[in-house]
Amino acid sequence: MLKFARNLMILIAIIALPSLRAAPTFAEDTREPAVRTAVEREFILGQMRLFLSSIQVILSAAAEGDMKTVAAEAAARGRKGTPASSIPPTMKAKETAAWTGLMGGARGGFDAIADAAAAGATPQDITGRVGDVMRNCVACHQSYRLVQE
Ligand code: HEC
Repeated sequence: MLKFARNLMILIAIIALPSLRAAPTFAEDTREPAVRTAVEREFILGQMRLFLSSIQVILSAAAEGDMKTVAAEAAARGRKGTPASSIPPTMKAKETAAWTGLMGGARGGFDAIADAAAAGATPQDITGRVGDVMRNCVACHQSYRLVQE
């Protein structure tokens, strides 16, 4: 009886093994973890959603030739667009040089869009600049993921 039970176990194992091997495998997330507190994370993601919604406003306004709206919306996402008092003071020290460079590229790019719109840029010029700014979004998203401290 004991031997039967053992043989049964082996049989079950043999039957079950292929289904175990067929378990789905997920691609490994190779992005560098950016460790931030809950407050910092909330701030960062809030800024990200503003980036996205401003890009929507800028593209729609550019398509209508409304350069006044383009200039105002782009300046709001530029280097001076975010009040210093709203930025968690603990954040700066955690930023790598690459992070700072990509964020600076995005902010500076929005300032350049604001200047170009104020100087009477064409819609095509604006959309080209938005594409250039978004290289920073893409590069940073490919490099980093947020991890809670
Ligand atoms: C310096 C790095 C950096 C730059 C530049 C950057 N992002 Fe992000 N963004 C992140 C990180 C990190 C996350 C969180 C990703 C994760 O944890 O998986 C994120 C998340 C987001 C999210 C999700 C927000 C949410 O509520 O979950 C949006 C939308 C977004 N980014 C838009 C943008 C846009 C648009 C730009 C460019 C104008 C941009 N980001 C530029 C680093 C960056």
